[in-house]
Amino acid sequence: MRSDPLAYLAAELETLKAQGLYRRLRVLEGEQKAKTTVDHRVVVNLSSNNYLGLTTHPRLRARALEAIERYGVGTGSVRTIAGTMTIHAELEQKLAAFKKTEAVVVFQSGFAANAGTVSAVLDKDDIVVSDELNHASIIDGCRLSRAAIKVFPHKDVAAARKILESLPGGRRVLLITDGVFSMDGDLGPLPDLCSLAEAHGCIMMVDDAHASGVFGANGRGTIDHFAMHGRVDIQVGTLSKAIGVLGGYVAGTRPLIEFLYHRARPFLFSTSHPPAVAAACIAALEVLMEEPQIIERLWENTRFFKAGLVNLGFNTGVSESPITPVIVGDGALAMRLSDRLFESGVFAQGIAYPTVAVDKARVRTIVTATHTRDELQFALDAFAAVGRELGIVS
Ligand SMILES: Cc1ncc(COP(=O)(O)O)c(C=O)c1O
Repeated sequence: MRSDPLAYLAAELETLKAQGLYRRLRVLEGEQKAKTTVDHRVVVNLSSNNYLGLTTHPRLRARALEAIERYGVGTGSVRTIAGTMTIHAELEQKLAAFKKTEAVVVFQSGFAANAGTVSAVLDKDDIVVSDELNHASIIDGCRLSRAAIKVFPHKDVAAARKILESLPGGRRVLLITDGVFSMDGDLGPLPDLCSLAEAHGCIMMVDDAHASGVFGANGRGTIDHFAMHGRVDIQVGTLSKAIGVLGGYVAGTRPLIEFLYHRARPFLFSTSHPPAVAAACIAALEVLMEEPQIIERLWENTRFFKAGLVNLGFNTGVSESPITPVIVGDGALAMRLSDRLFESGVFAQGIAYPTVAVDKARVRTIVTATHTRDELQFALDAFAAVGRELGIVS
């Protein structure tokens, strides 16, 4: 009998169970909405990145269905062979206008956009200077590029400057930050980092995955929020979060985008989006332009919920965005808090090491524009009761 060469994986899972860190996948039985059914329970949903509620917006649904009728369900090819349809080109043109850049290329996901772009623009002789809390897709892109990786402490511009001053001359350097950090909800120090990049002749790159649809005029992102147009060479965004659909994109100059057509491996070697995805994303951009009041509703709900958590005595860290962590420290306690909230009708996912530092485990919450005040108050009442029960607040 052949012995199982993967037996060590079961042992690893047993260790996670013993540490209270084992997670079962929770399953949504209905739509991705502010209140939905998860694992047979109706819950107020604070776990999605569906900031504006666009996953179920009638305009997006209608356009996706129309695209299926018109173009079918798949593209049958990668973009560089036969998988570029007029609807992909239309989406890219509209995104470029939205981001105020010369051109845009769309990838299958934000992860693919980051990993594919960093690994394409750098090679082994180059250097990347990266915030320690940058997203995993940036870290993977850096590793794939084989460039030397220099990490600076979170948002520490002085430390980034010190690294840049210590580098040998004549090397290509990429300075990279998230626009909004996905676990703490704070903003990258874009004005200072852009000045630093300019002073040292670096390529400046920002991953604005959590900012598009949330910050800036009509949700144009942190580059717009900080008035940094023209000072960021490579902007990444996603279509999977506030936009409500799926995908990632890079916005920049025409030569950058054309270079990525030739060298970004996820673009070259993975099939393009179904036409319904592109159509729904176009409709989402129209919603951002025509219904900016939904962004204001997101912020009103964010302010209400954040203030409620702080008044109850929870540690919400340094968040400046709708991502509001409730930091409890210990991983098992975070999972227990999440489980008890779920039993009380609130879905807020626990997050522990390695996604965050060992002593920074948390429950992560994101409100959306579509939560009602009653739903948010219900969630705050559940946090109060469970927080007291577990001794997190008094
Ligand atoms: C900061 C950041 N960048 C990139 C991504 C990847 O985006 P996507 O979900 O579209 O692959 C995420 C999503 O988790 C993210 O939080």
